[in-house]
Amino acid sequence: MAALMIGSMLVAALLVAMLPGLCNGELERFEHPIKSDSSLSFLVVGDWGRKGGYNQSAVAVQMGIKGEKLDVDFIISTGDNFYDNGLQGLDDSAFYESFTRIYSADSLQKQWYSVLGNHDYRGDVLAQLSPVLRKIDSRWLCLRSFILDAEIVEFFFVDTTPFGDKYFTEPGSHVYDWRGVLPRDSYISNLLKDVDTALRESRAKWKIVVGHHTIKSAGHHGNSDEVVAQLLPILQANDVDLYINGHEHCLQHISTSDSPIQFLTSGGGSKAWRGDVSWPNPEELKFYYDGQGFMAVQMTETQVDIAFYDIFGNVLHKWGTSKPLFSIVGENSRAY
Ligand SMILES: *[C@@H]1O[C@H](CO)[C@@H](O)[C@H](O)[C@H]1NC(C)=O
Repeated sequence: MAALMIGSMLVAALLVAMLPGLCNGELERFEHPIKSDSSLSFLVVGDWGRKGGYNQSAVAVQMGIKGEKLDVDFIISTGDNFYDNGLQGLDDSAFYESFTRIYSADSLQKQWYSVLGNHDYRGDVLAQLSPVLRKIDSRWLCLRSFILDAEIVEFFFVDTTPFGDKYFTEPGSHVYDWRGVLPRDSYISNLLKDVDTALRESRAKWKIVVGHHTIKSAGHHGNSDEVVAQLLPILQANDVDLYINGHEHCLQHISTSDSPIQFLTSGGGSKAWRGDVSWPNPEELKFYYDGQGFMAVQMTETQVDIAFYDIFGNVLHKWGTSKPLFSIVGENSRAY
């Protein structure tokens, strides 16, 4: 009996010893093949789940049309997937009402890669992250932080909500589901370490980081100070090309002279905030649209082109950049 107890305690101790490796060691990796012509295209939408309301359905219809035209490979969601309070459980009808039923176009029947937003943390986070949802709608994949390797580009999805001090210090009447996040300090420091390592070791030609919260934003929320202080230096040190976020209910592009990173907001998936725009240097604010819409990205090994669309399918803003075919990947890259 005693031997049995010691035995099972040993197993338990072993499991606990292995857990940090699972949680902190490495970010989960996924692979997505590019097209046979070596290009890749995808759509980005954020801040959307309102059962079709506030133009969510109109955005979805245009995503379907553009998605078909561009033959998109996948869709990225920048978080705040289900309003107001995330999913209440695995059987929450919002999953069908706000996701499956809304993004019904053929061209959108692709893999979705999603992060959590602050509103998602107000629900049952474990339900939204659960693989069970993938059985209900196989497109759905939502994780806190993960890596997507698409040959010519690597995506680093980062869980930004735990960075926000105010969710912890002034939650107000909101109840956040911090299971899996506490203790917060070590969660954040492990995450930053993992992102830094993954970025440093990446040999992809392009590096794109996706998070819910802003780094630079001219909108209502403005810059997310904690993300600027802790995550931005890592992105700058590792030659990240694009930072893509939601959180602001708008479409926006900021490009500053002190950094080659393009800051792109695609948070116009449903309810938009009109007005409320300010940025100190108008030259850096390349584009701001305070209505609903989404972003499309087309890339090859040498070229990235982005476009923002409104609910009528009008192009609101375009931007592109290129890299030479043969180059040392990134100024800071180590010799392999
Ligand atoms: C839907 O979009 C149209 C066109 O931008 C806008 O005029 C209208 O106010 C939007 N509706 C809502 C509820 O936001």
